[in-house]
Order: sequence, then C-alpha cells, then structure tokens
Amino acid sequence: METKVWNEAIEFDSSIKEAAQFLLNKQVVAFPTETVYGLGADATQEAAVQRIFEAKGRPSDNPLIVHVADKDQVEKLVHVIPPIARQLMDEFWPGPLTIIMESNGSAAENVTAGLSTIAIRMPDHPLALALLRTTDRPLAAPSANRSGRPSPTTAEHVFQDLNGRIAGILNGGPTGVGVESTVVDCTTEIPVILRPGGVTKENLEQVLPEVIIDPALANEAQSPKSPGMKYTHYAPEAPLWLVDGEEDFFHDQMEKLSKQGYRVGVIASDQLAAQLKHASLITCGSRENLAQIAERLYGALREFKKADIDIILCETFPETGVGAAIMNRLTKAAVKKIKQY
Ligand code: TXA
Ligand code: MG
Repeated sequence: METKVWNEAIEFDSSIKEAAQFLLNKQVVAFPTETVYGLGADATQEAAVQRIFEAKGRPSDNPLIVHVADKDQVEKLVHVIPPIARQLMDEFWPGPLTIIMESNGSAAENVTAGLSTIAIRMPDHPLALALLRTTDRPLAAPSANRSGRPSPTTAEHVFQDLNGRIAGILNGGPTGVGVESTVVDCTTEIPVILRPGGVTKENLEQVLPEVIIDPALANEAQSPKSPGMKYTHYAPEAPLWLVDGEEDFFHDQMEKLSKQGYRVGVIASDQLAAQLKHASLITCGSRENLAQIAERLYGALREFKKADIDIILCETFPETGVGAAIMNRLTKAAVKKIKQY
C-alpha cells in the first residue's frame, strides 16, 4: 500500500477532505493531536478498526481511545455521562484527558476489546478537530507507532514506523504536549487515574474532591524489569538504563560502561548535559521545565540507532506534575534502573 503524506495540511483545505474520504472508505489515516500522532479509523466500523490493529501489530485485547469533536458525540457512545465525567469534560476538553465511561455498545466491538467500558477524549488540535468534523464520525485512534515503539511526536516518526502499512499521514508538524493523554476511569465512585499523562493529578485535584492513582502503576514501577519484558513499551532501538543519582554518579556509570567497550548514548537535561563531556548526548530540555522534557522525550528515545549505540543512559526526573507521566513512560521503556545509595 502506498502511504500518502499530506504536508502542510491546514484546517480547511483539500487534504482534510481527502483524508476524511479515506476514513469513510474504512482506511486508516494518521493525524496530529496535541499529545502525540494518532492512527485513526471510523470507530463505528469494525473492519476499519481492524486495520489499526494490523498496521500497528497491536494485541487485540488492548482497547482504543475514541476521539470526538464535541460532547454531543459522547452521548451517542455511552449509557449516561456521570456528573464527574461531565465536570472533567467542561474543565479539560478539548485537551489531553481521556475519560472511561460505560459504553452503550454503538462503537465497533473491537474498539473496546470486549470491555463494557469505553475511553473517550476530545483532542485539542485544529487538524484533529477538522478531521472529526469533516468525517462526522467518532474516530478510534491509538498512538501511531508500531506496537512497542515510542509514540510519534512528528509525522516523520509515523512514516518511519508505518510507511506502506497505512493509507495516509496528515502532517501538522511536531505535537506540543509530547506524552499521551491522562486516562481517568469515571465508572467508579472515586475516579481513578489509569495512565498519567498531559493533564496532571494536581490539575485534576483542583476540580475533584478526590482522585486516586491505580495502585498497579506503582507496583509496576517498583518491580524489577525482567529481560523478557525488554522491548514491550516505548522501547528505543538500544536498551535504555535509567540512572537515578547525582551528576558524579551518572558520570561514573557512563565512564565505566565506555571503558568496558560499550558505545554509550546519553539522554540528559540541559543541567546534567552541561556537566558531562560526552560525544553521543541528546539534551531534552531544562529540569526546571518538565513540560519541555515531556515534549522532547519520545523524539530523544527514537534518536539513537542500534548501529551506533549499545546502551542508552537516561537520568530520572521528579514525579511532580507531568513528571509522573515522564517517569511512567521511562520506567516502561527501560530494561534496568541503577540507583545511587
Ligand atoms: O494522547 C493519547 O491518548 C493518544 C492520542 C493519539 O490521542 N492516544 C493513545 O492511545 O495514547 P493508545 O491506544 O496508545 O493508549 C490508549 C490507552 C491504553 O493504555 C488502553 O489500554 C487504555 O487507553 N484504554 C482504552 N480503552 C480503555 C478502557 N475501556 N478501559 C481501560 N483502559 C482503556
Ligand atoms: Mg500507545
């Protein structure tokens, strides 16, 4: 299949119309959102949604997020909108917040992977919204990467992973937030954060009396990564090691591995980078500005190629604000964590 790329797509042009036509013909099209690029398909058409799973190599038991252009579209997908969910929509939509509610079964069955619930969000991106309005369909859209790879924050990343496997890519330039949406389950009395993301726990606490983080998240972060889990999530080409410690400690780890003959790549904040003299180093912004780190993180994870680098070392970040999402992704991407005692 030839993948069509619409470069410099704008909100009201023929690219949107053409991309929408592809979607109505049950093809899959990648489009930018404010978080990462999504791989869209008509959420009401099982055959279309099936193409998402095939293109990504995604396990069929992992449900997809349905994107909508307005709240009226939500009414058509769920039994009822719980008051808390409505409050969150009013406060954070359009934006990087996905809300889980009880499905009424009108989305294709493979969207929800057989669950009774459905994940819905309204993206804050003019191209995504224009595409949703032009198709007038809810669009199922996971991140537009091959399963297991870091999510794409540019159209080039999508092209690297999915060229020849999807009908088209709407190029809207780099995405802004850089990590995916926060997933909040609103089917329970107290809402539960299932995945930390662009809307922070602190943001949610400003409007909700109580919100909890799924305890499974913390457990996964603490348990050591087994080698078999190596390349399952957000994985760069070379194995990623997280280094949790002072600058000197990081420097020593880097030197030790280099002396052992490993070609070491480093992903570091501006602050740490300034302290390290190392040839293969990617800076991903200031430690004082976690939003900037989030924006550049996935691009950095894609940068080092296994032809040049054996091990990637990356520093750890505070888990406040969007730092929770950054550390969640880094922990999943890493095969090892080295801690200074
Ligand atoms: O920012 C984002 O959310 C991006 C952009 C493209 O919108 N999308 C995205 O989709 O990250 P994906 O498929 O990569 O991640 C969806 C997450 C998965 O962890 C999935 O298991 C969870 O949402 N999810 C979807 N439906 C669910 C449901 N009914 N219950 C619980 N989790 C659900
Ligand atoms: Mg994903």
